[in-house]
Amino acid sequence: MDLEDNLLMMPGPVPVPARVLRAMSKPMINHRGAQFSEIYDDCRRILADVFKTENDIFVLSGSGTASMEAAVGCIADKDDRIISIENGKFGERFKDLASRYGSVVPMEFEWGNSVDLDLLEAQLQEGAKAVTMVHNETSTGILNPAEQVGKLAKKYGSLFIMDGVTSLGGDNVFVDDWGVDVAVVGSQKCIGAPPGLSMLSVNEAAFDAMEKENLPYYLDLKACKKKVLTRKKHKLLTHLRSLFSMPCRNPSI
Ligand SMILES: Cc1ncc(COP(=O)(O)O)c(C=O)c1O
Repeated sequence: MDLEDNLLMMPGPVPVPARVLRAMSKPMINHRGAQFSEIYDDCRRILADVFKTENDIFVLSGSGTASMEAAVGCIADKDDRIISIENGKFGERFKDLASRYGSVVPMEFEWGNSVDLDLLEAQLQEGAKAVTMVHNETSTGILNPAEQVGKLAKKYGSLFIMDGVTSLGGDNVFVDDWGVDVAVVGSQKCIGAPPGLSMLSVNEAAFDAMEKENLPYYLDLKACKKKVLTRKKHKLLTHLRSLFSMPCRNPSI
């Protein structure tokens, strides 16, 4: 295998531009220091444009699945009804993750077929804390109707947690306009960085819903928010090399 010239024909990891690779070879910095905070904030600012959101954005050490788990792990408690839409491999993963934390109502559609919005509305009428759905279901190539699902979730007072792992940065995704309460993306897909990081936007309604007694330890988004916004040390913010690789738009790299 030629490590210098390796064509990747998959949804991600994608080939990473030389400029990004060069950024990863920079000397180490203090991962709790001011320089780190600057890079981190730079990434958050750039990502807000990608997500089209005013919400808080966090970069977590851990691939897309880690941020999916952070979202449901912080929001869902054991008796909470969580509607999990599944029409492909990653919808199934979201359902499995959610069922570790909440009381999942699976909404399964034939893989490759879209969501039946009437059936979803009927489930929402029964009440649910949240709906999980994959926007671009990579396993089948289907793009699910995120905007409509966001509107329905809002109408019935449920949160909308969206896996945008292979749509954010590659397709038009309007997190705020669509009413997505938590949106997740992975570094190695349309963002064009190496794997190992994931990013998520979280709005106030989602933070308010994180009321359970035992939030996850490493993936505690409330703690993350507190530390990031007050620039305090945080256990999550450690994946330095990958963070360097995030396209920081620094022409000197
Ligand atoms: C839609 C979707 N969700 C979640 C994942 C899982 O992401 P990761 O492999 O970064 O944990 C993937 C990975 O391909 C994906 O395509």
